Amino acid sequence: MEISVTLSNELKKRPTLAEEAALGFGKHFTDHMFIMEYTDGEWRNPRIEPYHRLSLDPSSSVLHYAQEIFEGLKAYRSPDGRILMFRPDANAERLNNSARRMCMPTINVDFNVEAMRRLVEVEKEWVPYSEGTSLYLRPTMFANDEALGVHAAHNYVYFIICSPSGAYYKDGLKPIRIRVEDRYVRAVRGGTGFAKTGGNYACSILAGDEAERDGYSQVLWLDGEHMKYVQEVGAMNMMFVINGKLVTADLEDTILPGVTRRSILTLARDMGMEIEERHIAIDELVAYAESGELQEAFGTGTAAVVSPVGELAYRDKHMVIGGGKIGDITMRFYNTLTGIQWGRLPDAHGWTKEVCRI
Ligand code: COI
Repeated sequence: MEISVTLSNELKKRPTLAEEAALGFGKHFTDHMFIMEYTDGEWRNPRIEPYHRLSLDPSSSVLHYAQEIFEGLKAYRSPDGRILMFRPDANAERLNNSARRMCMPTINVDFNVEAMRRLVEVEKEWVPYSEGTSLYLRPTMFANDEALGVHAAHNYVYFIICSPSGAYYKDGLKPIRIRVEDRYVRAVRGGTGFAKTGGNYACSILAGDEAERDGYSQVLWLDGEHMKYVQEVGAMNMMFVINGKLVTADLEDTILPGVTRRSILTLARDMGMEIEERHIAIDELVAYAESGELQEAFGTGTAAVVSPVGELAYRDKHMVIGGGKIGDITMRFYNTLTGIQWGRLPDAHGWTKEVCRI
């Protein structure tokens, strides 16, 4: 399919270098978007056009039954004048896995990666320059039948928008406080936890809100069946350094298979670290924290990158990890991963895709 391009003749004011420090996450949007529609069993009319509002009928199925999926990935500016995307193929594949679970049409992975690449090429001036900033891409698909029956829709819209972004957490790379959630659940076996669908986020908002009110950045979810095993944070997968080993929850259908998670596990193997992907009981984590064997904890995610965790609160227990400071292993992962993403370190695994040279 040919992607047509219509450029905007009213460009927005882009953030200056000085303004980049205050970008935050997902607050500004660029001049163009990619969009195409699925009708009569086919994706049609793929195009890049000026960023615009969408007009939906009030009966549009996504508004009622939440048949919606999305992705998040980033483009970076390298010191040698290239624009790079990080593992866009992994995001395109995961989008298709989410689509299958949500009964939605898939998109050819190579085509989708090319759609992302073309859009970033058009928006290359929007890729910010400062340390820690990037252009965040948000591919999104939603059902758009104008009917109220509860069925898989026949009509869908797929779009990609871009947002120049800085740190996901307002304090940047500083250890965050996380509350282990023991009242609400995010996902259950056989549900949609592994799919990147809006409903998983909608059901997490109340717990996140309450945690924020109490001074935490996020909640760490426990499994929905036993309320015993550590799962993920919602915007991040979680990793723990216990007695020098890297320990993370094994992937079940309740956990989002993070692209950053997968990348960190590969880097850990490269570094010769021992890895355990397994069930981690919260009581076990508390015991390791109390004995001092829980040395570091960090979250991994596209938006958050590698985010050190300085405190975990579970019921009446407040576990300060690594003295509340950023651990050496966490920092090493952050530096290695961002070094590859920003094109400063060799990309031994072929993860970055060049968008263009400028
Ligand atoms: C991401 O890391 O890209 C996410 O989607 C997490 C969150 C902002 C929803």
